Amino acid sequence: MTHLAFLGAGRMASAMVHGVIARGITTDHIAVLGGSGTSAPALAAQSGVRLASDPASLLAGAEVFVLACKPQHLPTLPAALTELTEGKLVVSVLAGVTNARLRGVFPKARAVVRSMPNTPGSIGAGVTPYSPAEPLSLGDAALTESLLGALGKTFPVPEEKMDAVTAAAGSGPGFLFEIVETMERTAVELGLTPEEAAVLVRETFIGSAKLLEHSRRTPGELRDAVTSPNGTTYAGLCAMRANGMAGVLRATMTACRDRSRELGR
Ligand SMILES: NC(=O)c1ccc[n+]([C@@H]2O[C@H](COP(=O)([O-])OP(=O)(O)OC[C@H]3O[C@@H](n4cnc5c(N)ncnc54)[C@H](OP(=O)(O)O)[C@@H]3O)[C@@H](O)[C@H]2O)c1
Repeated sequence: MTHLAFLGAGRMASAMVHGVIARGITTDHIAVLGGSGTSAPALAAQSGVRLASDPASLLAGAEVFVLACKPQHLPTLPAALTELTEGKLVVSVLAGVTNARLRGVFPKARAVVRSMPNTPGSIGAGVTPYSPAEPLSLGDAALTESLLGALGKTFPVPEEKMDAVTAAAGSGPGFLFEIVETMERTAVELGLTPEEAAVLVRETFIGSAKLLEHSRRTPGELRDAVTSPNGTTYAGLCAMRANGMAGVLRATMTACRDRSRELGR
């Protein structure tokens, strides 16, 4: 069975580790290594995967190397990784870091894949766009699909779209949770208790997401279906438009796309 080595053991690596364990990869086939902090020991203790002591022990016996540190750590990675990743499949989740740059750091890897998972992947409900540096062999394509597929849906895209997919999917949960939090806070201002606001807003969010999933209708059609002329939803939507909701979301996603580009430089 494939052995996986994770460099970086933070939020995204945890989501991936829990995802692949839930899909049946046994914990003794997974090793993790972090930086000088506590995330790797914590993840190992919590999930039962092996805590590596250094890059050599991390990569020993591994077929797939998952790069899950921060983009800023890339220049500080041990030079030994060049040799240690020889012949391995390297899958990176680093926002903005291009395949060309990854190829420069892992010149001897047999294949390099740039991907952008999102945190719903920790419960198998993610969507992960990815882009290989070169066309993958059938075996590496299957390995990539099974690693990233453990997080939910996969979505191959040409690399020039990787910054845009970060705005749509990778960082998307952060934007949606911000909206949920703001709606809950507002519901309290309108007279609900925090507990009431939490139940009502979250259930509405979850129910709307399920409706979107199960309905054949577009988001616009589903919106129109709850909007009677001059009714309550109509009043709210008018206020949303008057207060620049579309502009706010456009600025949000554009800033995200631009930061992804910047991180890649
Ligand atoms: N969070 C998301 O939703 C999301 C989505 C898509 C992609 N990503 C990408 O996932 C990557 C990790 O993000 P995150 O949110 O998981 O970050 P995080 O929770 O801050 O985790 C960063 C990890 O990097 C480790 N680290 C620190 N210095 C290191 C070094 N010199 N060498 C190796 N590892 C080192 C940290 O270990 P210590 O605890 O020991 O310091 C920690 O395990 C980023 O590149 C990000 O672009 C994140």
